[in-house]
Amino acid sequence: MAEEAILGYLAKNEEIGDSGDFASKHGLNHDEVVNVIKSLHGFRYVEAQDIKRESWVLTNEGKLYADTGSPEAQLFLAIPPEGGIPREELQIKLGPLLFKIGCAQAAKNRWVDMGGQQVTRRVQHVDDRVKDLLLKIKEGQVVDQDDIKVLKARKLIVPQTWNGYSLKKGPDYAPQRKKFAADLTREMLQSGDWKNVEFKEYNFNAKGQPIEAGHLHPLNKVRHQLRMIFLQMGFEEMPTDRYVESSFWNFDALFQPQQHPARDSHDTFYLKVPSTTKELPEDYVERVKCVHESGGYGSRGYEYDWSREEANKNLLRTHTTAVSARMLYNLAQDTLKKPFTPKRYFSIDRVFRNEAVDRTHLAEFHQIEGLICDRGLTLGDLIGVLHDFFSRLGMSKLRFKPAYNPYTEPSMEIFSYHEGFGKWVEVGNSGMFRPEMLLPMGLPEDVRVIAWGLSLERPTMIMYGYNNIRDLFGHKVDLGLIKTNPICRLGL
Ligand code: PHE
Repeated sequence: MAEEAILGYLAKNEEIGDSGDFASKHGLNHDEVVNVIKSLHGFRYVEAQDIKRESWVLTNEGKLYADTGSPEAQLFLAIPPEGGIPREELQIKLGPLLFKIGCAQAAKNRWVDMGGQQVTRRVQHVDDRVKDLLLKIKEGQVVDQDDIKVLKARKLIVPQTWNGYSLKKGPDYAPQRKKFAADLTREMLQSGDWKNVEFKEYNFNAKGQPIEAGHLHPLNKVRHQLRMIFLQMGFEEMPTDRYVESSFWNFDALFQPQQHPARDSHDTFYLKVPSTTKELPEDYVERVKCVHESGGYGSRGYEYDWSREEANKNLLRTHTTAVSARMLYNLAQDTLKKPFTPKRYFSIDRVFRNEAVDRTHLAEFHQIEGLICDRGLTLGDLIGVLHDFFSRLGMSKLRFKPAYNPYTEPSMEIFSYHEGFGKWVEVGNSGMFRPEMLLPMGLPEDVRVIAWGLSLERPTMIMYGYNNIRDLFGHKVDLGLIKTNPICRLGL
């Protein structure tokens, strides 16, 4: 419609002076006219010149007063002509906001007397100029500059730029748009029509249809990159495909005493069915019991009665260190048959904690864990490896703070300087596994294990700019974000 009107008009006339006037004269929607002009301009049917006009539009408050009258007029009308009305009563009648604005403006206009307890009229009749002006502006009529200033200061109107065009015939003008063929068809080839048909030019800048495909979650992307870093550093992935563990592997094997608060059901999810584990390596269990009760290997142990029932309880693993314990135990078993070989292991998988859910905590999250098992390793080796690992993530300024874990000694919290936040942030936990953990497994005496752990969510949230973990993981996640999140490149 708009296209026919424009091309038809230009066939008989030199120019269209103003697309806005043209649209209203022909009963067309101006946005539609603008779209058509842009397209005709692109194909050189018309030459278009920008026209910009400043106009004023009503704010929501302005629209309201255009309908119901200005606050000062409403206030004036709410005062009985004879005698007046107490302030409080007037305020209740109008509501606090309208009352406040109405009082100020009406007093300024000298319409009312606010002096005493009673508010009274000072004049018999008022003209609601503000309402009249607003209605004029609404209809696009011209209003005096001084009035504009006042209405603008009262935030009843705001400026708006109007964009339109003036038009002339372009170099390729024709009264009707030529239809170009988009596809070469079988029929055209058969009939020979293709020789006469004009084809549409290729648009190499067209975006193309979005491809429907699966999308990777940011956690998966970051996980993949971390996996690559571990693999590049020569680490093997541990099999973490078991969420259910026994207390034995999750805690006891790690020399975590049975009365440790983390083992409380307020902190750990225990299983009802099956509530206990079926199988544990009996001779190793015996050595773990001994080390808890009375120590050995130069340790005093915890000096309490160790309970097998407690160790048998099934739970959702609270850390992937349970898997590390299994792996180290298997490694120790291997040394019975062949010489000890150093190992580097890593895992990135889900763990569970019975925690109150908030902005930064969920009851399930993912843990990244790395460990190196070799003869004669020192804390210096751990610090060195952490520097290597974290600098590959783009964190090269590290600091360490002494910490406590039941299974490591010494233990260190890892802090990294975050350039964006301008402060040190905690990024992980680390330590050297205790002899009370390693020696009952049967590892050679001079074998040391350095290890560290961190969450996958924390770096992902920082990298992707999430500040609520529930936007990243769980049922509140926005699928749109999953479809559009950018690629992940660590350490750039
Ligand atoms: N398991 C620890 C945690 O849950 C992380 C850790 C792993 C600490 C290895 C030291 C050594 O926080």
